[in-house]
Amino acid sequence: MKIFIDTADVKEIREAHEMGVIDGVTTNPSLMAKTGRKHREVIEEIVSIVDGPISVEAVSLEAKGMMKEAHEFSGWHKNIVVKLPMTSEGLKATKLCAQEGIPTNVTLVFSVNQALLAAKAGASYASPFVGRLDDISETGMNLISEIRQVYDNYGFKTQILTASIRHPIHVKEAALIGSDVATVPFNVIQQLTRHPLTDIGIQRFLEDWKKVPK
Ligand code: G3P
Repeated sequence: MKIFIDTADVKEIREAHEMGVIDGVTTNPSLMAKTGRKHREVIEEIVSIVDGPISVEAVSLEAKGMMKEAHEFSGWHKNIVVKLPMTSEGLKATKLCAQEGIPTNVTLVFSVNQALLAAKAGASYASPFVGRLDDISETGMNLISEIRQVYDNYGFKTQILTASIRHPIHVKEAALIGSDVATVPFNVIQQLTRHPLTDIGIQRFLEDWKKVPK
């Protein structure tokens, strides 16, 4: 499973990239707003750090405006993936982008049928939001299993990009189900590295090392 980092904070991206575990980056307007920096400037810094797909979200509500943004973003760097909303206008733009060879990430997917439509329109990635489904007392991970089954039934090439990940169990379950990608916030990536037995083991080895004659 590929791991993308779900942030626009370049410090976090650099740190995770140095660990060698990051295959790409996803951003959205909320993450961008947290940086307090100019959109293009941040994206240009991100592409200079990570050599992989970088999702940049369009904010237009109509396909025409989305295409204008898609052309602009994809001109910034070859690794840009245009993030489009899961609406009928978003699907129109997805289809046009596919025809032009612009990679897309259809975002805010909350049902199997939406994921099916995103794939049919030619999306490179579909992003189901598991945490936000959990928030409303639905089991978000069930959606990932169902989309996996539908995509496999028909051989769709669209990659499942599990998003709205909130904790390590989401990552583990996404990997077990066979999600193609999980986009993970930095704090969860840090949590993935930890295990109390690792810490205890290091401590014990360090103590024993002191007893070894040098
Ligand atoms: O990639 C989308 C993701 O960032 C949404 O996460 O936690 O705002 O639901 P969250």
